[in-house]
Amino acid sequence: MSEPLLTIEELVVETHNESKAIISRLNLQIAKGEMIGLIGESGCGKSMTARAILNLLPGQMNVKGKILYKNRNLLGLSHQEHRKLLGKEIGIIFQDYRGSFTPFIRIGKQIMETIQAHHSLSKKEARKIALDVLTEMGLEAERVYRSYPFQLSGGQVQRAAIAMSLALKPSLLICDEVTTALDVMSGEKVLDYIEKMRKETGCAVMMITHDLTQAYKRTDRIYVMEHGEIVESGTPEVIRCHHQHPYTKKLCGCVLALPGEKNVVESNREKVMSI
Ligand SMILES: Nc1ncnc2c1ncn2[C@@H]1O[C@H](COP(=O)(O)OP(=O)(O)OP(=O)(O)O)[C@@H](O)[C@H]1O
Ligand SMILES: [Mg+2]
Repeated sequence: MSEPLLTIEELVVETHNESKAIISRLNLQIAKGEMIGLIGESGCGKSMTARAILNLLPGQMNVKGKILYKNRNLLGLSHQEHRKLLGKEIGIIFQDYRGSFTPFIRIGKQIMETIQAHHSLSKKEARKIALDVLTEMGLEAERVYRSYPFQLSGGQVQRAAIAMSLALKPSLLICDEVTTALDVMSGEKVLDYIEKMRKETGCAVMMITHDLTQAYKRTDRIYVMEHGEIVESGTPEVIRCHHQHPYTKKLCGCVLALPGEKNVVESNREKVMSI
């Protein structure tokens, strides 16, 4: 693997009132420019892992271990130092995209001000970048720029939130279920653009997803998570065809099997192999 950008070592996240930790001794690495997938069933701790990286966990949680980003332990940073990293160095697109924008400020103004907060650019330059990224996301840029979040559909707000993250050109982009609110075609387009940006800027991507086909197709390596632990990791080829862990087998089988069909797992596996 090339030079590591982010290394998570023995991360533990626990609440005071639960006996079992939400995340247990998690180890994960992302190299510069690499795209990794993080998969696992609902509630296993994927979003909490992303939040831990950015110090965005709920207050009552206890965090142990190390999160090294460019060799600095993020768990030792102050709130202010974290805020400086957020957006410009590490971008996150949340699963709940509605939280990305303040409701009563126009989308364009929010994107423009976010760009200006991190890069010393004039209003005109920031506006141009904002309109360009909105266009890349397949949106009617001028209209979306002038709109309030409540004047747009959920999928449009989601794409605008993605545009805002990409406009800052982060070194690491965390995408938490970014295509859930989108139709298949818009989802493909958004993921294509993220890949294009990754090639152009060399940024690394952590893709949290339930869509195994996308994870197989787009990532360099996949981590499989169960109950707060990484149970297996490997290339898409290894995870889909040569997995060792029974949970990975179950997860791959669940996604590939259709109710009422016999031997569908194997026949679908062949289809996925030909992607
Ligand atoms: N504020 C909170 N306080 C206590 N526990 C929480 C809190 N938020 C989430 N959890 C718990 O942490 C665990 C991991 O949640 P997380 O959101 O990371 O799951 P996930 O893998 O992202 O699931 P999904 O695929 O449904 O998004 C779950 O058991 C969840 O109930
Ligand atoms: Mg989640």
